[in-house]
Amino acid sequence: MSNRKIVIDPITRIEGHLRIEVEVNEENIVTDAWASGQLFRGIEIILKGRDPRDAGLIAQRICGVCTNVHYRASISAVEDAYGITIPQNAEIIRNLVTLSLFVQDHIIHYYHLHSLDFVDITSALTADCSKAVKIAQQYHEHPYRNSEGHLESVKEKLNSFVKAGRLGLFANGYWGHDSYRLSPEENLVHMNHYLEALRIQHDISKAIAIFAGKTPHPQNLVVGGVTSVADMLNPQRLNDFMFLIKETRDFLERAYIPDMKMMVKAYEESIKMGEGRGSGNFMCCGGYQFASKEQLFESGVLTGHNFDEIESFDPSKITEEASRSWYEHDLPSSPYDQETVPFYTDLNEDGTLKSEGKYSWVKAPRYGGKVMEVGPVARMIVGVVKNSKVIKPYMDRFMKDTGMTLIDFSTTIGRNAARAVEAQICCDYLFDFMSDLIENIKYYDEETWTKYVFETLPSASKGAGIFEVPRGVLGHFVRIEDAKVANYQVVAPTTWNASPRDATGQLGAYEESLIGIKLADSERPLEVLRVIHSFDPCLACAVHVIDAKGRELSRYKISAS
Ligand code: CA
Ligand code: NI
Repeated sequence: MSNRKIVIDPITRIEGHLRIEVEVNEENIVTDAWASGQLFRGIEIILKGRDPRDAGLIAQRICGVCTNVHYRASISAVEDAYGITIPQNAEIIRNLVTLSLFVQDHIIHYYHLHSLDFVDITSALTADCSKAVKIAQQYHEHPYRNSEGHLESVKEKLNSFVKAGRLGLFANGYWGHDSYRLSPEENLVHMNHYLEALRIQHDISKAIAIFAGKTPHPQNLVVGGVTSVADMLNPQRLNDFMFLIKETRDFLERAYIPDMKMMVKAYEESIKMGEGRGSGNFMCCGGYQFASKEQLFESGVLTGHNFDEIESFDPSKITEEASRSWYEHDLPSSPYDQETVPFYTDLNEDGTLKSEGKYSWVKAPRYGGKVMEVGPVARMIVGVVKNSKVIKPYMDRFMKDTGMTLIDFSTTIGRNAARAVEAQICCDYLFDFMSDLIENIKYYDEETWTKYVFETLPSASKGAGIFEVPRGVLGHFVRIEDAKVANYQVVAPTTWNASPRDATGQLGAYEESLIGIKLADSERPLEVLRVIHSFDPCLACAVHVIDAKGRELSRYKISAS
């Protein structure tokens, strides 16, 4: 038998619509891979000709999940173009919201979008609850909601889904697959926290609403500052925020981190084999700097897993190109000049991608011509390499408790571990930001907006808003002419990670990470899902589109070629 192609389209439990094609050899080892974003909407085109002050409200519609971060990056890009500096309180409020989102995003991603690739619900049904209580205690002294009675009730709840034949959102799992590694009791402990995480992520939405209004589309930012003035000055509102974040911190400490340690232990072999390892090129722009504190994230670029050498991050080295993407104007250019002119070429006759031609709506961003992986793993590795006083203590503790080394984080399981550690760091940092805010208010600094007169601002200029956001580095680039948006480009974290090949043939980060994966069962390509999910894909962000046609729940095709 020769090489075969496996098509997974769409990959579910992600944001948006992604198609993956892999080629496997006789031993079911992946020898080649193509990642394809499948829809186009063109928010960047819609932004042309608009009043720059309105850009944020339109740009946040890029995604239904990452609204806040696009809103912020867009407003910041315009502020950068105009040279407007915002008051410290406005910066703090923006940070409180963004970091809450980090925590919320990571919890939802791990438990609700990804954990079922590793946790077998059907196995949890056979768990011995008193044994499960003790197993959870191996990973924390006081595990989250860990009484035998409570675990019995979780089991009963899961059982009622199965008995009624209504697995609902659990219906499409590869239950019983050979590569599930947790014991029934460990599966039950995870499912317990899966259900608890539904409540916690809801609590974080409540916290975010205090400063940003209702999720998903916030209204609290304006060019020059924030509008959540009354909330900032109301001690009860500040208190409510802290109460909700304390609840979350408790969950991270007693559920998320211990569950991740359990996962690392159970999937140790996968980590040691380097499953899901990419090129080892990591990029961070750093940020969340405070007058009184270290900055939260370090910036830097390292390549080929070389942890001894780190280059400083220079945004002018970012280019985008479209030689393998469905757009005209293929050549690499700076995002300020990059154009978005759709040019769709069809699929092959057998329905597979034209792997020698254009095959994705995602463009190919590069840094100094190189492909980069962005996200929590990049931030945690760069933080350790740069000896960050904030990040390193958390990473050291996690590595000591699990026996992981730095390169182990550059794997499928490692990406998840880095994300869990990062959630804890961000959550703890929220308390520092809040005390800075309270300190300011105490000394009568109540500024939330920098006054400017629009008519006196330069009518032509350009600016960028570049931030670390939950999935990695996000850049919004705006060029203003005649006081209107002349060109607008977004390079989202998933654009980096889900990028297709470029003109030089470099594979994107997803593609590179899939090569070498061995499938236990090519009819049920769970290992491919694990690799892709570990990046926390947000395709809506990457191609700036939504799924307007409605989506199929799951379909994969296997074809010989
Ligand atoms: Ca773009
Ligand atoms: Ni998104």
